[in-house]
Amino acid sequence: MALERTLSIIKPDAVAKNVIGEIESRFEKAGLSIVAMKMLHLSREKAEGFYAEHKERPFFKDLVDFMTSGPVVVQVLEGENAILANRELMGATNPKEAAAGTIRADFADSIDANAVHGSDSAESAVREVSYFFADDEICPRV
Ligand code: PPS
Repeated sequence: MALERTLSIIKPDAVAKNVIGEIESRFEKAGLSIVAMKMLHLSREKAEGFYAEHKERPFFKDLVDFMTSGPVVVQVLEGENAILANRELMGATNPKEAAAGTIRADFADSIDANAVHGSDSAESAVREVSYFFADDEICPRV
């Protein structure tokens, strides 16, 4: 088991539904700690940079439009195997395929408005955490 950090985003659809607290509760009940957090309205430039690896994909403009459509909560989750643990709590990208009881099954409406983002690998987590947070904005529990 490894203590890891992962970047989590509560997306504009979930913020608009007023379910920030319900989503945070799932992370905390699963043993993940929120060690950094801020609410932001992403600029296009910031969203395009975050999703740069997808810039050739047909959905890139829709993804950036959606992620800049309202405020988001960006946060760092810390815990044992946090990257995979967060992905399991989130469920599949497409909420129609997400397992019952996952965040996306319960709160997401569609593949584009899918409630949450989570880093998908250790390399992504390092890049994504540092994209939003300076070292001195992270407050480890241990
Ligand atoms: S892949 O192929 O696994 O890399 O892509 P995936 O991880 O499934 O998706 C990457 C992000 O793009 C979002 N996405 C979409 N947005 C809008 N429209 C469509 N059709 C669409 N398909 C995928 C998806 O929600 C992922 O966002 P994040 O924030 O990474 O979860």
